[in-house]
Amino acid sequence: MNYFFCRSLNSRTTRSNNIQLYPSLSKVSVLSRSPVEQLKQELSTKKMLFQKSQLELTKVVGQGESGLVYRGYVVMNTNKVLVAIKTGKALLAVTDKERLLKEVSLMLTFSHPNVMPLIGLSFDEDTPLIIMPFMSNGTVLSYVRESRKSLYFLESSDNIQVEAARNTCLGICHQISKGMAYLANFKFVHRDLAARNCMIDENGIIKVADFGLTEDMYNSNYYRQEKRQAGTEERVPLKWMALESIETHVFDESTDMWSFGVTCWEVFTCGGVPYAGVPVTTLLSELRSGHRLDRPSNIACSDDIWSVVTSCWSASPRERPKFATLVNTLTDLLDSDSNYIKLLG
Ligand SMILES: Nc1ncnc2c1ncn2[C@@H]1O[C@H](COP(=O)(O)OP(=O)(O)O)[C@@H](O)[C@H]1O
Ligand SMILES: [Mg+2]
Repeated sequence: MNYFFCRSLNSRTTRSNNIQLYPSLSKVSVLSRSPVEQLKQELSTKKMLFQKSQLELTKVVGQGESGLVYRGYVVMNTNKVLVAIKTGKALLAVTDKERLLKEVSLMLTFSHPNVMPLIGLSFDEDTPLIIMPFMSNGTVLSYVRESRKSLYFLESSDNIQVEAARNTCLGICHQISKGMAYLANFKFVHRDLAARNCMIDENGIIKVADFGLTEDMYNSNYYRQEKRQAGTEERVPLKWMALESIETHVFDESTDMWSFGVTCWEVFTCGGVPYAGVPVTTLLSELRSGHRLDRPSNIACSDDIWSVVTSCWSASPRERPKFATLVNTLTDLLDSDSNYIKLLG
């Protein structure tokens, strides 16, 4: 696999805001220790490095790109905290290990209610285990699929129910947009935004997660994916990707915005499969000729909402909204600006 993109460990101290990648690494001589050792040191200082013996893995809850995700516990002093543990496959390729470690160093720098935080890291031999808070309401994708009865309405449905469904769906999109606005503000491009990669905690707070493909864009306005080596496998979420990302491998805030539109479409269709029946081979020509996802038949998706969603797929990236503005647009469309969604059932 080829998801890991090398970057230099330059000092990031000129970053105008308070976020720095590898915060303390910039102060350490790059020559003296390997990036993994530096990361371990940093985590250890922050008391975020755990012994494998402090972990209890109880149940597999997900299958990710790099391996299984478990529900489990981490023992901190006398506390036992419920966590999710993302692991690598038994025979993890070096690039996968690097991908996991990169994800850790990114998560270390994030701090926003709608972005998945990091609890810590552990190692099983030399396979990294990422420890995160456990999201008891699963992914946004599974949630909207399971809640279809209360979220999906056709013509002639009860108005109060439709209003409630609209607010829940819009509330989900609104929270995701806030997490994305935070990342965009700090010049991170997610590259894999989708309903499957957003999680819901026990209080109905949504966290944008899965930073396996995320890139730091501090020194550049856009990210161009490096050419793959012949024979290497690559995971690209084609049906969530902007037209120009498929064509020219360019990623930036406006291509994340395209994926955000697809994510909103997933929410309002209650977990529909984008472009079902359209083979990946014809997707590009369909998109080029102006074809886009169909409007959901769910009447919870009003004209106002649909017009916001379609604006994410403007052929011209400049015409797509910015996350910071989009947050406000969605706030205006919501009945009440709540920080959590009212969980159903
Ligand atoms: N914090 C979490 N709490 C509960 N389940 C999680 C958590 N993180 C991930 N999962 C589960 O594991 C799956 C894969 O996680 P993800 O971060 O998307 O991994 P990958 O990068 O390998 O795709 C998710 O779809 C979800 O079902
Ligand atoms: Mg994922």
